[in-house]
Amino acid sequence: MEEVLITCDNLSHVYSGGVVAVKEVNLKIRRGELIGIIGQNGSGKTTLVKHFNGLLKPTYGKVIIKGEETTNKRVQELSRSVGYVFQNPNHQLFAKTVTAELEFGPRNLGLSEEEVHERVEKAIEFFNLDTYRDQHPYRISFPLRKLVGMASIYTMRPDVFILDEPTTGQDNITTRIVYQLIRRLRDEGSTVICVAHDMILLAEVVERMIVMRDSVLIADTDPKTVFSDRKLMSSTHLYPPQITELSHRLKDKNFINTYALSIDEMQKVTDQQLQVKRSK
Ligand SMILES: Nc1ncnc2c1ncn2[C@@H]1O[C@H](COP(=O)(O)OP(=O)(O)OP(=O)(O)O)[C@@H](O)[C@H]1O
Ligand SMILES: [Mg+2]
Repeated sequence: MEEVLITCDNLSHVYSGGVVAVKEVNLKIRRGELIGIIGQNGSGKTTLVKHFNGLLKPTYGKVIIKGEETTNKRVQELSRSVGYVFQNPNHQLFAKTVTAELEFGPRNLGLSEEEVHERVEKAIEFFNLDTYRDQHPYRISFPLRKLVGMASIYTMRPDVFILDEPTTGQDNITTRIVYQLIRRLRDEGSTVICVAHDMILLAEVVERMIVMRDSVLIADTDPKTVFSDRKLMSSTHLYPPQITELSHRLKDKNFINTYALSIDEMQKVTDQQLQVKRSK
């Protein structure tokens, strides 16, 4: 088993004013995992993940990052291990050019100018930002700004990337690019936690899916199990992929005997079923 990087032990968060945004969450995140977090608006996703790098501290319970409780740690220290890419890039970016934005993190880590330069160039290449390197981050489109937000964390080389809705507001092409980048991050050995609403594409990249409902973690399993649980899905007011819903209906009619998450899977399931029927 891989090393545990983040542990939430009975974590609750109550905002001033009394809103209980996260309630008694227990979970462990191991090195190399690729995890999706879904849930309705306001279900507590952002509040939960902001605890993973100390941006928020528990009201009750504990969060432990690489063996140390976050309570007395500064975000700056914790962000060496866990990088958080904000849901809204406007809350994250502040430099005058894309390059300056990307230089900030590694320079702050005290790296040599040579190393800073190397990391910035690698990030520009990884996120395909060469055309925009001298532009003001606020002058480029919102989807690109989100990529700059991801790139500026990438230059810090954290063990864990937390991406808070990297695909919200993105068109289909950029969404696919973001998911390709997430896969590549994992291939490079990073641990990635991604909050997202586009469950279908998310399900294609993650192996573990956490579901939040009304501040409570109600499921933590593989995407297929999540989507095939109709009761759970409808209780969250989230809709499974259409292909999964279709497979549910075919299963209800005993045409197939399992669920499908993608067209490819559906093809396999129906092919198998037709063969069984023919051989009878
Ligand atoms: N700074 C804050 N002060 C008070 N209440 C807050 C604060 N931030 C969030 N909340 C409340 O906490 C609850 C959870 O919010 P949170 O932003 O964590 O949800 P979310 O699942 O990320 O939602 P979304 O999908 O809209 O991003 C909501 O009821 C929200 O109104
Ligand atoms: Mg959020």
